[in-house]
Amino acid sequence: MARRLDAKTAIVFGAGASAVAAPEGCVSNGFATAVTFAEHGARVVAVDRDEAALRGTYQAITAAGGDCTPVVADVTDGAQVAAAIARAVDVHGRLDIVHNNVGVTRLGGPTELSEEDWTSTFDINVTSVFRACRHAIPHLAERGGAIINVSSLASIRWTGYPYPAYSASKAAVNQLTQSLALQYADRGIRVNAILPGLIHTPLIYQQLAGEHGDAEAMRAERDASSPTGRMGSAWDVANAALFLASDEAAYINGVALPVDGGLHAKAA
Ligand SMILES: NC(=O)c1ccc[n+]([C@@H]2O[C@H](COP(=O)([O-])OP(=O)(O)OC[C@H]3O[C@@H](n4cnc5c(N)ncnc54)[C@H](O)[C@@H]3O)[C@@H](O)[C@H]2O)c1
Repeated sequence: MARRLDAKTAIVFGAGASAVAAPEGCVSNGFATAVTFAEHGARVVAVDRDEAALRGTYQAITAAGGDCTPVVADVTDGAQVAAAIARAVDVHGRLDIVHNNVGVTRLGGPTELSEEDWTSTFDINVTSVFRACRHAIPHLAERGGAIINVSSLASIRWTGYPYPAYSASKAAVNQLTQSLALQYADRGIRVNAILPGLIHTPLIYQQLAGEHGDAEAMRAERDASSPTGRMGSAWDVANAALFLASDEAAYINGVALPVDGGLHAKAA
């Protein structure tokens, strides 16, 4: 298979290999994307606030002969985000791809959620994207590049969970994506979003199973809710990210691409 990101430098925020107990083969979106980018020749700068999780990603990439620079940073801290991007440019002399994958779900509507939780959800899910773009765009503008923002199907549809802070913050990610796509199109920077649907990642065991009470039932319910009869995997999301990051997507800009087995088209 042709390597589609040869000679490119990619920074992946939220690239850690999740330590959450999950079934064999169930990996997080950021991990799968970092591994896939590296398999396709990218020099990957893997960023996560969780050092142990980053170690897992580093080991997976380097064991397969890939190039990975792990950087511990919290996307809610502008100075740490700036330092992570500066590190990528210092080590590799260029930056081509920025993948913004960090996101958290907080269950609860206005009467359950505290104002602090609402605000921090927006900080982690949307302002983090603003921070990464703020520091990365000057480097991307040197020779063009791609920004991929991981949104969610929940940004455009009710997906069965009461988490308006998540949905609204991801909707903001979509609009931020479009705005930047148009603002920087003539500088050779493409900005696209991925809207994963029901994906089988460790996150769902940590953040949703508790609410549901029964992880297996939650898993079966999510499989059944997917038009294909199964949830997507992190590799499905990673393959979409690979395409959007690659030159094959050179004329694709400002899209919000569902990766959901068709769930977005379903009305009943
Ligand atoms: N799993 C799904 O079904 C699903 C569906 C739609 C969208 N998504 C989106 O996909 C993305 C990744 O989801 P996932 O399931 O792989 O999640 P995950 O929690 O497994 O992975 C996210 C990574 O981000 C890191 N992280 C969290 N907060 C951070 C911070 N403040 N700074 C730096 N790193 C931080 C975590 O340590 C983790 O390694 C999220 O944006 C999520 O909203 C997931």
